[in-house]
Amino acid sequence: MSGFLEGKVVAITGAGRGIGRAVALACAAEGAKVVVNDYGVSIDGSEPSSEVADAVVREIEQASGSAIAVADDISQMAAGERLVSVAVEQYGRIDGVVTIAGILRERMLFNMSEEEWDAVIATHLKGTFTVFRAAAAVMRKQPGGGSLVGFTSGVGMWGSVAQANYAAAKGGIVALVRSAAIGLQKYGITANAVAPVANTRMAANVPGGTAETGEPEDVAPMVVYLLSDAAREITGQTYTVVGGRVALWSQPREVREMVTDGRWTPADIAARLPAEVGTDRMPMLDYIEAMQARAAAAGS
Ligand SMILES: NC(=O)c1ccc[n+]([C@@H]2O[C@H](COP(=O)([O-])OP(=O)(O)OC[C@H]3O[C@@H](n4cnc5c(N)ncnc54)[C@H](O)[C@@H]3O)[C@@H](O)[C@H]2O)c1
Repeated sequence: MSGFLEGKVVAITGAGRGIGRAVALACAAEGAKVVVNDYGVSIDGSEPSSEVADAVVREIEQASGSAIAVADDISQMAAGERLVSVAVEQYGRIDGVVTIAGILRERMLFNMSEEEWDAVIATHLKGTFTVFRAAAAVMRKQPGGGSLVGFTSGVGMWGSVAQANYAAAKGGIVALVRSAAIGLQKYGITANAVAPVANTRMAANVPGGTAETGEPEDVAPMVVYLLSDAAREITGQTYTVVGGRVALWSQPREVREMVTDGRWTPADIAARLPAEVGTDRMPMLDYIEAMQARAAAAGS
C-alpha cells in the first residue's frame, strides 16, 4: 500500500468485473475504504447476481483492505442514494464516486428497439446521474468537497456504427460531467471523465476489435489520481487511458463562422456556407476507412 487515498471513502459502480474491479482493488490498495457496487449482470444487463460484488469485497479484505458490497441496479434512483448512504453510515463520509457500470445492446439504428435504447441509456447515463446526484448532495455539505469520476468512451465523442444507444449515453456522460464540474465547483467538488480501452468481456464485443488496447489494471492508476488530493484542481476534463497512454480530449469549440445582417435565407446559406464555414471531417470516418483498407489488404 502506498496510501495515495489514505483516509478516503470511495464508491465504485460496476466494480465487480473488468475495469471497475481493477479500480476498486487499486483504490483499496491505496488506502481507501471502498463501497463495491455491481448488479452482477451479463453483458446485455440480464441475470443479476450479488456474487461478483461479494467476490471483490473478499479480495479487498484478503489484502487487508476495507470494503462493503452493494449489489443494486445503479440505474435506479434509490440505488444511487443507497450507495452513498452505505458509505456515510459505514465509513462516515463519501470522498469520491466512480461510475463504471455498463452494458451493451448493439444493433443498427434502424433495427434498435425501444427497450435496447432505454436499457443502455439507463445503465450508463442515468446510472451516472443517480450516483452523482446522491454524492453531490452529501459532498457539498462536507469539508473537503469530493470527486466525481464518470466513464465515457471514444465513441461518445466520435459516434459508433452499431451502438447509437451506447454512443449517445457516453456522449451524455461527458456533458453531465462538464455540467457537474461547472455547477459544483464552488462546493469544492470536481467532476472528470475517463475514456478507457482495456481487455474485458465488453471490449471483446467490439466489432473489428479496438485499434489499441491494454489491461484494466492500466486504467486504475489514473482513476486513483483523479480521486486524490493531488488532482483537486482538475475538473471538467476527459482523459483517454489505454495501456501506458493517457491523453486529454479537447473542449468542443466553434471552429469557423459566417455572419449576415438580419436573417439568413436558405439560398444565402447555400451560396456562402461551403466556402466560409464548411464541415469538420469526422475522425470516425477516417478510422472506418483505415479498417476497411486493412481488411481489404489482408484479404488480397
Ligand atoms: N473495455 C473497454 O475497452 C471500454 C472502452 C470504452 C469504455 N468502456 C467503459 O468502461 C466501463 C467498464 O467496462 P468493462 O469493459 O470493464 O465492462 P464489464 O462488462 O467487464 O464490467 C461492467 C460491470 O458493470 C456491471 N453492471 C452492469 N449493469 C449494471 C447496473 N445496472 N448496476 C450495477 N452494475 C452494473 C456488470 O455486472 C459488470 O460487472 C463501462 O462503462 C464501459 O462502457 C470500456
